[in-house]
Amino acid sequence: MSKVFIANRIPDSAVETLRARHEVDYHDADDTISREELLRRAQGCDALVTLLTERVDDELLDAAGDQLKVVANVAVGFNNIDVPACDGRGVVATNTPRVLTETTADTAFGLMLMATRRFGEGERIIRSGTPWQWGMFYLLGMGLQGKTVGIVGIGQIGQAMARRCVAFGMDVIYADEFELDPDTAAALGGARKVSVDELLATADVVSLHCPLMDSTRHLINADSLKRMKKTAYVVNSARGPVIDEAALVDALKSGEIALDVFENEPAVHPGLLECENVVLLPHLGSATTETRTAMAELAAQNVVALLDGAEALTPVTRKTRV
Ligand code: DGY
Repeated sequence: MSKVFIANRIPDSAVETLRARHEVDYHDADDTISREELLRRAQGCDALVTLLTERVDDELLDAAGDQLKVVANVAVGFNNIDVPACDGRGVVATNTPRVLTETTADTAFGLMLMATRRFGEGERIIRSGTPWQWGMFYLLGMGLQGKTVGIVGIGQIGQAMARRCVAFGMDVIYADEFELDPDTAAALGGARKVSVDELLATADVVSLHCPLMDSTRHLINADSLKRMKKTAYVVNSARGPVIDEAALVDALKSGEIALDVFENEPAVHPGLLECENVVLLPHLGSATTETRTAMAELAAQNVVALLDGAEALTPVTRKTRV
């Protein structure tokens, strides 16, 4: 029997899938496993099931040992995994694309509505007992119809966000190395590929869906924030470090931002907490029961396939898109 270590609590059905076939050691707890314990319990395992909170690097791969065949990340994002280090050892890394696409796009769209319509501010007023009264100019926001959304990263989640925006009457532009095929672009209301510069200058809402890589770290910084329309909104449901949070806090004095992720999460820049014009969620992008179960089951199926000597269902390569 092969040995599998599951580093954090995941939905039961996925644990059962693995237990039915392999010897499973399970850190059955919601708190992130300590690095020390992770290194210890990974030893001698054939497969590791990790979350985005576990750093998979040379140190962990060395601790696990040469028999390790697969690291199955229960997340579509894999910036916690050193993919070249896995490749170099013949360890297959897998992620969970597609099963969380719609849920994550729902979150991005929800953030956009919350920010543009100021729902968070409104809720805080009611909950704090602050006196209020209906007024013609009270908490006015921006309507989405006829506005332009600029999608940075037109992978699966970016496209799902674009579909929602088109349904709300928005125009779609996008920036990516990749170009949509004409049918897909037409289905997204004639989505047009533009440069990042044009996107920043034109979009009423900039929605981030790119993976975190060296080239996208601090993509949104003091300079890019200045190049956006004064009235622009930014939605980040990608990874926190795509935005330079210190620059963001300065820009918030004039714009609206909606964030599901933070540069140094779970820590939140104190300046963000002081701004009324920001919507903050604790990295809930894929957080539905259905989606988290599908993600964990996909990770388990990747482990089962690889330990059976078959191909991974969703391997990560250096070219994997999210
Ligand atoms: C992912 O899958 O990368 C999300 O951020 C975690 O749900």
